[in-house]
Amino acid sequence: DTMLAPEAYRLRFESDTVALAASGPAGFRYGWTTLGQILRGARLREGTFAFPKTGVIEDAPRFPFRGAHLDVARQIYSLDEVRRFVDCLAWNKLNVLHLHLSDDEGWRLDVPGYPELAEVAAWRGLGLAVPPLLGSGVDRYGGVYSSADLVAIVDHAASLGLAVVPEIDIPGHCYCVLQAIPSLRDPDETGVYRSIQGFPNNCLNPAVEKTYEFLAAVFAHIAGLFPAPWIHVGGDEVPHDAWLGSPMARDLMAKNGWTEVFELQSHFLKRVQGIIRGLGKRTGAWEEAALGGGVDGGDSYLVAWRKSASGRELAEAGYDVVLAPAEHAYFDMAQSDEFWEPGASWAGTVPLAAAYAFDPGSEWPAGLRSRLIGVQACLWSENLCDRGLFDHLVFPRLSAIAETAWTPRAKKSFPRFLAIHPLMPVTGMGRNRPDPYSRVAGPP
Ligand code: ACM
Repeated sequence: DTMLAPEAYRLRFESDTVALAASGPAGFRYGWTTLGQILRGARLREGTFAFPKTGVIEDAPRFPFRGAHLDVARQIYSLDEVRRFVDCLAWNKLNVLHLHLSDDEGWRLDVPGYPELAEVAAWRGLGLAVPPLLGSGVDRYGGVYSSADLVAIVDHAASLGLAVVPEIDIPGHCYCVLQAIPSLRDPDETGVYRSIQGFPNNCLNPAVEKTYEFLAAVFAHIAGLFPAPWIHVGGDEVPHDAWLGSPMARDLMAKNGWTEVFELQSHFLKRVQGIIRGLGKRTGAWEEAALGGGVDGGDSYLVAWRKSASGRELAEAGYDVVLAPAEHAYFDMAQSDEFWEPGASWAGTVPLAAAYAFDPGSEWPAGLRSRLIGVQACLWSENLCDRGLFDHLVFPRLSAIAETAWTPRAKKSFPRFLAIHPLMPVTGMGRNRPDPYSRVAGPP
């Protein structure tokens, strides 16, 4: 039915037929998914759910960008685990996997011309360039995904209607990169600044020209592996005093009359955006990429994470916005303050009801709403040193935000959600699954 929008579908139930209409593959996929969900409920919870005898479902998503982020830098997940996660996202009708491929604690892809990344930046352990961290113990832990691994993830995701947005987190969160490639530092830098997580001098230096040569190689490689229209460049959590001990950075600031570190950050991110534009892609970044003059809003989107209100400020500044406020959408946060609940608490706790109650853009003026392109769950892995925690933290909160991404507020119902979510799949991680990446001994 060419009258239907690309992701919309219609299911018509009659006494002995079900008719599915859509205008293309995405709509048919979501129609089949809904039919599968209904059938599953009717089979597994007979008496609670029934397969409809008659009636029509007309359905279409609320937002075009329905994402989930996975931090594969702090902990590395096997190919099979990522694929299972993608399966769960697809069943929840999400359409973006945001893959966080680098952070202070590890780098997860091999880049031609920079063997130090796979050999050094990808590994942590006692006596290595990156020390033991986040529960991985003294043994050598880490590794990279091969290009074939990443293509397999992209292909599997595409087969289920998901785009994979790769993130290389720069200029901050680069401790392991700078440990592996010290020539990216200003050799005359003095003093120590620390990231919020405590990493010393962990930001790529915008005044070191080799930084851009390095990033051009990284992003060219990434652009060849990931067909998604966006590359995410991080931009978060650069300390206020980053680079102030670097004579090269201070000279660049003085020459341009910049007095603030974030003006230098904006200069850096705009140059990176130019590299990404040159590869035919648009730039994604966390909300701090708007600081100090920001990136160009014309071909970017920013993910608002620090508080619900920051998304509106970004939209007012002219950016397309994805909302992922930590107090609703960070599923590494504990679900309550009971002592036995695992997870972080710096953004408070995120009970299931709070995840479900998230009402994106409700406080935005109507004129700004077209800037709100979607919502995203985030799964940071610092606290996920035991795979057995994964499903407990992720589900059913993931299904709660997925429903918010798909369904307008007026059609949501928490009692209905509570009835349905036990039918949603989990990854099964931690149930005696072999994990080929954890605690790998010997060279990569
Ligand atoms: C973030 O949580 N640092 C984006």
